[in-house]
Amino acid sequence: MLNTKIAGLGYYVPERIVTNADLEGVMDTTDAWIQERTGIQERRYGNPHTETTTTMGARAAEIAIERAGIQKSDIDFIIFATLSPDYFFPGCGVLLQREMGMTSQEAPALDIRNQCSGFLYGLSVADQFIKTGQYKNILLVGAEMHSMGLDFTTRGRNVTVIFGDGAGAAILQPSEESGKGILTTHLHADGTHAEELAFVNPGCHGGHHLGTERFGYPDQAYGGIFLTQKMWDDQDIFPNMNGQLVFKTAVTKFPQVIHEALTKTNLKTSDISMLIPHQANLRISQFVQRQLGLNDDQVWNNIQRYGNTTAASIPIALTEAWEAGKVNEGDLICLAAFGSGFTWGSALIRW
Ligand code: ACO
Repeated sequence: MLNTKIAGLGYYVPERIVTNADLEGVMDTTDAWIQERTGIQERRYGNPHTETTTTMGARAAEIAIERAGIQKSDIDFIIFATLSPDYFFPGCGVLLQREMGMTSQEAPALDIRNQCSGFLYGLSVADQFIKTGQYKNILLVGAEMHSMGLDFTTRGRNVTVIFGDGAGAAILQPSEESGKGILTTHLHADGTHAEELAFVNPGCHGGHHLGTERFGYPDQAYGGIFLTQKMWDDQDIFPNMNGQLVFKTAVTKFPQVIHEALTKTNLKTSDISMLIPHQANLRISQFVQRQLGLNDDQVWNNIQRYGNTTAASIPIALTEAWEAGKVNEGDLICLAAFGSGFTWGSALIRW
């Protein structure tokens, strides 16, 4: 029986640091409000003309490949998770393949659309492919260039202050060591509140889910649906979030899905060496930490420095924790995420 191990990790964050004080300069917000509600002090923004979700993903992938001791030509499957893709289509998987000069192997590239849970969904997919022996060196990337699509007016402040840019990557390989590697993964989704944390325009929904009134569709039946003048005039072209609903649901689902993984593996919260939660909001992570009875040094938080980087947040945090010597042979590492969809998930890894 093959297990899946993480053979290499890497992350990349852009150089430009944007502090809460910088945001105070463009919208009606305060450093105190942002820190008190989210814990965020600063985030990174990529260069809008030279960096994209793909290029940042590629930088993180190069590091992960080198640390795994393989060549990029060894990659036999690419999985790319993001909610801020360079293009509506094609996805970032093929763009990354080209960016990294690895088109000649014609390895398949899969794009994952599960927002904050994207990395965990990708990890679970990779795990299945490795266990069946189909692939031997899977490159899994989570990357986001949020700064390109946020509303920098006061109207967008509840969302904009939270998000940052960055990328993380992992190389997944088979291992025959029993009891090591990915022990279990658990994925969930409930679309009931799909629009409560969403980016709906431009899009092909035609008003079906939300009513046609709001969008100002032209008379002709086709065309002019994807982006209308009214959407543009109303600036109805940014992400929206019902923060309180997200908060309430997240603090329920995080512990639930972690307990599900522990139960499946006959382990207890006290067996967890390090929890790497999706960096949604420091208050959410602290709540989960208290619920699980973990100490401060058992939970990796970096949202203070990077904001919420969605699909990139777990691989960035995992890489940082590993680089800091907090992820060691034999440790039980728990990954958990919750986000738009709503989607959520967990994984337990014996390092
Ligand atoms: N600066 C100053 N004031 C603000 C800001 C801001 N950036 N954003 C909102 N406000 C104001 C609102 O306009 C409102 O003002 P009003 O009372 O005059 O109407 C007031 O602050 C309170 O707004 P709420 O939205 O009710 O604020 P809340 O206390 O719920 O905090 C927050 C908002 C931080 C988003 C909170 O709901 C939360 O943490 N939710 C979890 C959502 C989250 O973490 N999302 C991360 C992304 S999703 C994910 O990764 C899972």
